[in-house]
Amino acid sequence: MRLKDIFDNNRHWVAEKLKTDDQYFSKMARDQDPKLLYIGCSDSRVSTEELMGMAPGEVFVHRNIANMVPNTDLSVMSVIKYAVNILKVQDIVVCGHYNCGGVKAAMESADLGLLNPWLRNIRDVYRLHQNELNKTEDVEQRYRRLVELNVLEQCVNVTKTAVVQRAYKERGLRVHGWVFDIHTGLLKDLNIGFEDILNKVMEIYRID
Ligand code: CO
Repeated sequence: MRLKDIFDNNRHWVAEKLKTDDQYFSKMARDQDPKLLYIGCSDSRVSTEELMGMAPGEVFVHRNIANMVPNTDLSVMSVIKYAVNILKVQDIVVCGHYNCGGVKAAMESADLGLLNPWLRNIRDVYRLHQNELNKTEDVEQRYRRLVELNVLEQCVNVTKTAVVQRAYKERGLRVHGWVFDIHTGLLKDLNIGFEDILNKVMEIYRID
């Protein structure tokens, strides 16, 4: 892929959109009204809108290495705040994926410099679920399970925020944990039990 090709592709895309609706871009420029906030991994194989069959304007997206929601990360916290309070999304999804390089790196003991503190958040997930993970002897299976548990713990982090707790009370906003299976292309709902998580979280992290 040459960068020049991107501009050719872009012009082709514009022409295709205008063929179906000559107001397509003027309508799009007016506003956005997404109902979903998607927090996923930066991995180039997990193409958010494409795999969900969603069009521009339908999903608000945040991506970083290993779909993390660290409590002190201003970027993801700002995205959540904006999506919930201004855009009024009704659902928040944390979507992980099998074969996640970030999760894999956290399972190994290499020193990755600047990446260490980021990956430490995943190691914290490992520590929280150490008993279960250590019982799983098959490395590949342990890796897959850590991907799922990481999604679960990032959903907990989303639920700890005041904006999310308030929006749940006011309009029933929900948090979901999904995994994208890179081997089959299928999305899997982990059925995280959002209300149970919320109740447990609020025992300690309740805001008002
Ligand atoms: Co990844």
